[in-house]
Amino acid sequence: MYDIILKKRLGHELSRDEIKFFVDGFTLGAIPDYQMSALLMAICFNSMTDKETVELTYAMADSGDKLDLVKHGIYACDKHSTGGVGDKTSLIVAPIVASCGVKIAKMSGRGLGHTGGTIDKLESIRGYKTELDVSEFLSIVEDVGVSIIGQTGNMAPADKKIYALRDVTATVDSIPLIASSVMSKKIAAGAKTIVLDVKAGSGAFMQDTESARVLAQKMVSIGKGCQRNVAALVTDMDVPLGKCVGNSLEVIEAIAVLRGEEKGELSELCIELSSLMLSLSLGIDRDAARERALTAVSDGSAFNKFVEWIKAQGGNEGWAYNTDLFPKAKYHAEVLSLSDGWIKRMNTQEIGRASLTLGAGRRTKDDDIDFAAGLVVEKKTGDRVKRGDLLATLYSNDFESLAVAKEIYLNSVEFSKESVERPRLIYDIVI
Ligand code: URA
Repeated sequence: MYDIILKKRLGHELSRDEIKFFVDGFTLGAIPDYQMSALLMAICFNSMTDKETVELTYAMADSGDKLDLVKHGIYACDKHSTGGVGDKTSLIVAPIVASCGVKIAKMSGRGLGHTGGTIDKLESIRGYKTELDVSEFLSIVEDVGVSIIGQTGNMAPADKKIYALRDVTATVDSIPLIASSVMSKKIAAGAKTIVLDVKAGSGAFMQDTESARVLAQKMVSIGKGCQRNVAALVTDMDVPLGKCVGNSLEVIEAIAVLRGEEKGELSELCIELSSLMLSLSLGIDRDAARERALTAVSDGSAFNKFVEWIKAQGGNEGWAYNTDLFPKAKYHAEVLSLSDGWIKRMNTQEIGRASLTLGAGRRTKDDDIDFAAGLVVEKKTGDRVKRGDLLATLYSNDFESLAVAKEIYLNSVEFSKESVERPRLIYDIVI
């Protein structure tokens, strides 16, 4: 291990055997944290070649169980977002695509820190089971066409251990480490087609669009190297996505989009992601795929598929028909603008932190979540506001947290006296 660390520190390319050696050794506990940390830091400084990144992805994907969906006769599509604030697209895209005849088999994560996680959002629907065994998961994918569960126990365990170490050694934001981490899990989960939503901006890992584009290109090329159909969109996370941030609030917003009641950026992005998934899976052009996705929303088939899916996983489907049934937070507070002008910038990571403070997220992985907590954004970058206008409404079952979150929210918004353009929603597509 000493020689491998030194080689990387000197900027040389590691071989397949060397990469396999440290991944397997660390997973088995034979390589101590301090040596792995040193290697991760050397990778952060000296990066990895494409060849090394692919080998690292394979080694991590091979470190535990792998699901071979194709062997089960399932040509499924998977979708992954690199994470952000208010990103509830999986809840919308999965039933749209499934209602158009493409199977969705997806394993998702929980939220940690300022970003939310699909599994927590789904658990805010009473009864929804996120822990199914593989045979139940596959039979729902077969029968209903869509299933989303939590990552099963022993999939890509190397990534789990390495990620935990990166989290506490300031080695998360390295493009080869992120690309291999995401793709090792996607490859182990077995879908033939993978669509990635790589976020850029103040609420994302990648703060600028250029790094997000490089990350997207790396992940697409890793996926192709593993014989998957893969493409990525590079999209904005400089403002929260949609209006709602927080678990049940986001599910309610997703349902409104599926019922065609909520238009705007969230719905536009979901249609773009769905089109890409459908066009790659069915081999049709993106315009035709777009038409199918739009029709699935307008004729109600996407919403009906959502209901069918939630019911199949034990969730109370009545909540989809009547979202007033979701438990509400006991307290709420309004955040009013203290300035006149245009919103120039929103620090989206801080908005995520406000939601976390209200109880919607976890500071450590064992924290409990308040499903009803979160916030609804009323004004966004580019909007004109007058002093006293409502910027956001905060919800929580913890009264004390409202004042703290309000302060965080107000500090996260910058104003300008000049008009400001709204950031673009989609920056690029990598195919
Ligand atoms: N998400 C992952 O799964 N891994 C990373 O390294 C970063 C984000």
